[in-house]
Amino acid sequence: MHPAGQNGVSRSARSASSPSSVMLKIAHLTFESPFVLAPLAGYTNLPFRLLCRKYGAAYCVSEMISCHGLVHREQNTLKMLASVAEERPVSFQLFGADPEVMADGAEILESYRPDMIDINMGCPVKKVTKRGAGAALMTDPRLAGKILKKIVARVSIPVSIKIRSGKDSSSINAAAFAKMAEDCGVAAITVHARTWAQGFSGSIAPGIIADVKRSVSLPVIGNGDVLSLEDGRRMMAATGCDGVMIGRGALGNPWIFRQSGRPEDVLEIVAAAREHLRLIEEFLPAERLLGYIKNQMCRYFREFSGSAVERKKIFSMPNLDELRDYLGSYGSEQ
Ligand SMILES: Cc1cc2nc3c(=O)[nH]c(=O)nc-3n(C[C@H](O)[C@H](O)[C@H](O)COP(=O)(O)O)c2cc1C
Repeated sequence: MHPAGQNGVSRSARSASSPSSVMLKIAHLTFESPFVLAPLAGYTNLPFRLLCRKYGAAYCVSEMISCHGLVHREQNTLKMLASVAEERPVSFQLFGADPEVMADGAEILESYRPDMIDINMGCPVKKVTKRGAGAALMTDPRLAGKILKKIVARVSIPVSIKIRSGKDSSSINAAAFAKMAEDCGVAAITVHARTWAQGFSGSIAPGIIADVKRSVSLPVIGNGDVLSLEDGRRMMAATGCDGVMIGRGALGNPWIFRQSGRPEDVLEIVAAAREHLRLIEEFLPAERLLGYIKNQMCRYFREFSGSAVERKKIFSMPNLDELRDYLGSYGSEQ
């Protein structure tokens, strides 16, 4: 990460005039890869972000963090701000709908020293949208603009937004919304090319990412259904986007960010599962998270022969000690 003093500059592919390995630029931040870990509530906590950075993610985005939780200093919210120097650059994602509370929340986020703040304008979950936050903000660009202007004025780090195509297929407004956000001073725009109405089903519309790219001069990050670097490169070629955000494809598969992908060797896969467990034990209250940990570990056990049996074994583990021992001795009795 090097300060370059530029604002909102787009991808510079490797070229003769640019011998560095910079692949994506957002404001003054430069990244050596265009592939970014998407925010995933319940998943993109510090342990998983560290693993994804280790395998080459340009940067990672935290789970969405409530502006109200921040201003009320709720313990569960503040715990989500755990970070360490090795994971930088990192982006913390904020959600909410009240401009003043969002600006206060952004200021608190900034005090925890992330490199960027991302504003959630795409979450379709009812709990979020019924309060006017997440994807609901795309139906109220005036309010969204007010939020963005206040936040950009309040913090000194780059602010990005993550949006969808629009509310539904008859009200696609991503390109106009992105232009509005650019005028408010945001530094980058991620587009999950599905509508709010689609949730997570149906196919993505890469044309919307291309429309957004044409409508702004900011870096645009495409998102949706990318399951390999190859998929991501295809998205960049088809849409002109500057980077690609990967969400579900990274779960149990942090290698998605490296060129060689998922290892063939089962022992190497299990070693990463062990490392993930070690990081969870280091940074999260692991004793209280047995179900969550089993779910995470099972994600590593797929796509190899006998993996269904292994997943069943993991789910039957009565406690963390047995699970740790099982992973620790994996392979020695096979
Ligand atoms: C379990 C889960 C949690 C998510 N949490 C967030 C979130 O906190 N903030 C956000 O902007 N998007 C969130 N998303 C959306 C993802 O960031 C991403 O846009 C979406 O999954 C499409 O990308 P993918 O196909 O690569 O997963 C979530 C998605 C899933 C499946």
